[in-house]
Amino acid sequence: MSTVAVIGTGYVGLVAGICFAEIGNQVICVDISEERVASLSEGKVPYYEPGLADLLRSALDNQSIGFTTDVSWAARDSKVIFITVGTPSNEDGSSNTDAIFGIAREIALTTPGPRTIVLKSTANVGTAAWEG
Ligand SMILES: NC(=O)c1ccc[n+]([C@@H]2O[C@H](COP(=O)([O-])OP(=O)(O)OC[C@H]3O[C@@H](n4cnc5c(N)ncnc54)[C@H](O)[C@@H]3O)[C@@H](O)[C@H]2O)c1
Repeated sequence: MSTVAVIGTGYVGLVAGICFAEIGNQVICVDISEERVASLSEGKVPYYEPGLADLLRSALDNQSIGFTTDVSWAARDSKVIFITVGTPSNEDGSSNTDAIFGIAREIALTTPGPRTIVLKSTANVGTAAWEG
């Protein structure tokens, strides 16, 4: 069983995280919203997606999924980290990638050893080449 982290539990991240758990991975989902983390930990899905609440309850029962606000804690034991946070549009149409870079910085500064980071959030061309 491999451990996967998913950062951002909106439409993209929550479905991905629950499906990763369903196919046999240990999943840690992260969100900046304490309220969302608390309600997901109780098995409450914040939007309608057929079958998702049942899969979440099953993953919680199996202890194959957990929720936290702590990026570095989630990244510590996860070899693969999906970033699925929101990237709202700027006035010029580009994506606001502040959250992505904040998360990347936190992972780099707190997590020892190599990690594979998968960027699912919409981002400007060249974002992944940043060496900040
Ligand atoms: N919805 C889609 O069909 C779709 C498809 C392809 C790509 N995307 C892209 O995927 C990304 C996520 O889309 P979504 O629809 O799931 O968005 P969403 O707004 O439903 O969810 C984003 C989540 O990220 C959390 N978040 C924001 N900043 C954070 C941070 N710093 N740390 C941790 N969590 C944080 C928010 O609290 C929220 O729960 C966007 O960039 C979007 O453009 C979306």
